[in-house]
Amino acid sequence: MVYFITELIIIFFREPKSIVAGTSVRGRSVRAGFGLGGAGSKDGGEGGSWRSVSVLKPYFRDHVLRLAGGFSSLVVVDLLQLYIPRIFKYVVDSLQKGIATPGGLLASGCYIILTAIAIAAFRFIWRQLLFGFSRIVEIDLRERMFSHLLTLDKAFFQKTTIGEVMALATNDLSSVQLATGMGVVALVDAVFMGLAAFGFMLYIHPFLTFIALAPMPILAFLTRILSSRLHGRFKKVQEQFSVLTEFVRSSLASIRLVKAYNQEEHQSRLFAQMGETYVRNNLKLAYIYGTLFPVSGLIGNASMLLVLIFGGRLVISGAITAGDFVAFISYLFIMTWPMMALGWVADLFQRGATSLSRIEALMSTRASLAESSAPSVRIGRGEIRVRRLSFRYPGQAAPSLNEIDLNIPSGMLLGIVGRTGAGKTTLCNVLARLFPVPDGRLFFDGLDVNSISIGSVRSAIAYVPQDVVLFSDTIAFNIAFGTQGASIGEIEKAARAAAIHEEIAAMPQGYATRIGERGIKLSGGQRQRIAIARALLLSRPVVIIDDGLSAVDMETEHTIIGSIASYLEGRTCIIVSHRIAPLVDAHEIVVMEYGQVVDQGAHKDLIDRNAFYSSIFRHQALSGVDQGIGSASGPVSDVTSGER
Ligand SMILES: Nc1ncnc2c1ncn2[C@@H]1O[C@H](COP(=O)(O)OP(=O)(O)OP(=O)(O)O)[C@@H](O)[C@H]1O
Ligand SMILES: [Mg+2]
Repeated sequence: MVYFITELIIIFFREPKSIVAGTSVRGRSVRAGFGLGGAGSKDGGEGGSWRSVSVLKPYFRDHVLRLAGGFSSLVVVDLLQLYIPRIFKYVVDSLQKGIATPGGLLASGCYIILTAIAIAAFRFIWRQLLFGFSRIVEIDLRERMFSHLLTLDKAFFQKTTIGEVMALATNDLSSVQLATGMGVVALVDAVFMGLAAFGFMLYIHPFLTFIALAPMPILAFLTRILSSRLHGRFKKVQEQFSVLTEFVRSSLASIRLVKAYNQEEHQSRLFAQMGETYVRNNLKLAYIYGTLFPVSGLIGNASMLLVLIFGGRLVISGAITAGDFVAFISYLFIMTWPMMALGWVADLFQRGATSLSRIEALMSTRASLAESSAPSVRIGRGEIRVRRLSFRYPGQAAPSLNEIDLNIPSGMLLGIVGRTGAGKTTLCNVLARLFPVPDGRLFFDGLDVNSISIGSVRSAIAYVPQDVVLFSDTIAFNIAFGTQGASIGEIEKAARAAAIHEEIAAMPQGYATRIGERGIKLSGGQRQRIAIARALLLSRPVVIIDDGLSAVDMETEHTIIGSIASYLEGRTCIIVSHRIAPLVDAHEIVVMEYGQVVDQGAHKDLIDRNAFYSSIFRHQALSGVDQGIGSASGPVSDVTSGER
């Protein structure tokens, strides 16, 4: 018990080293949040876990009244429970002395019932208040986690699987909730009940108390040893749960591929193997419980044996009354719960601390492209300048962009073509401010992007990424995503410009059609055009469409690009395509190869002077098939679009 009390004092009164960022708990600004302690907590060491617990301090401070009310009710329940053995003592003693009357016995019974009713009422109150507190912590942590996730960038999601994040938001948060709810309740209950019962036992007979509690230090010692092992084992269980979650997520997300490649059985087998590992890890954890609880029970029974032997003698010798003996045994029973609860509390706290350190590691991750204090400005013209821009993906040896120079005046329709892997998507990503760039390399409306806020640039761009992202909602929702309060008329206008209106109108529920998980009910081309309509509706000065029409045929692509161009009249538009013909009307076409711009100009100039360009163009036009640059045998669209 001393160990746990010390542990508790350390946790709640230590300065929270890892807390740096200001955040808000229940609307009020407090000094909380997850700071740079990530490195410490990432090691998963026990110290790291316990340190993360200090993250909860603001919640305890903020809800002090709720906690005070909850703990007071809990203490009242404990006191009332401790009162019942006193009634037993009175009844047994009066029976023994022969002074008991039926009326007295009935009165005692009524006391017990009234006490039980009061216990039930106060128990209801503390459960509401204290478990409510743990839910508040859980909800707030979940909200903060989600908001924080939204601030993280591509670099983070390249390293972390969605399964890991989902496991944190479910299993780990539940552990924290259990620790802050049941864990705290059990600890306070155990300590208070334990001490009070101990006091009553001392009052009855100090020597008997000493004898009865002699085996208890063994229990505390065992709990200490076993709980120190819980941490590592529980961490393994949580990690394996992340693996399982990610596997299910990715299998279901690419269900078409799994079926097309007839991989159902293989995937099931892999899942079963992962499940077995999960079970094995859980069994190792259960082994500790399997030891802890029976041992606690055994020690409790050993105490009981000692009380029967020594207490019985004391009654015989008249040192204590039979009523005292009965009451003493009742208190010993009461003592068993605190002793066992301490083992359980240790586990709940270990789990909670482990989970909290995992959550803190996430919360302390900062986007590589952190929002600086740079001012927000409105980019109205949409003029882009790129000066000798090189870019290398984190951890890659070779650069994906090499000394790119581009001038994209306001209102230009710029086409970008190039072989697969030439760096087209990378260029779009960098332009859209998804990755950091050095100073003096990228300018919007003449302003260095590093001198203005990231939000200023992003809110000037409507970007259609190569991997189309749709939500499992209605078509109207998907098109209007990002545009607050768009009318159905505006949605339709954007859909017409993206040449998808007719197809939507032909659907039984039109724009209210739900498109299934990630748009599974739509064709690849339909998904792409819905994503384009979404970007057009945004009405931003710059529109970037990365291979957004690869799933339609060349003729249709040409027509749609014409329609997009007239819709965007006066705005800057960058369209990447693996086919040249649809882009012939662009003001300029950039030809990329090996991360470089190898040529740039109007279509007719490129045809005249660039042999590579003209040969590909003629080849595509003559063959009459949707053959992409760099693709010798078929449409690149098969590779570059649709479900991944
Ligand atoms: N997230 C990434 N991390 C590391 N390397 C990457 C990443 N994305 C792309 N690359 C590399 O950068 C280079 C350029 O890729 P990019 O996606 O820009 O080509 P692309 O021109 O868009 O090709 P495609 O026509 O197939 O879409 C490739 O060599 C690719 O392997
Ligand atoms: Mg690409």
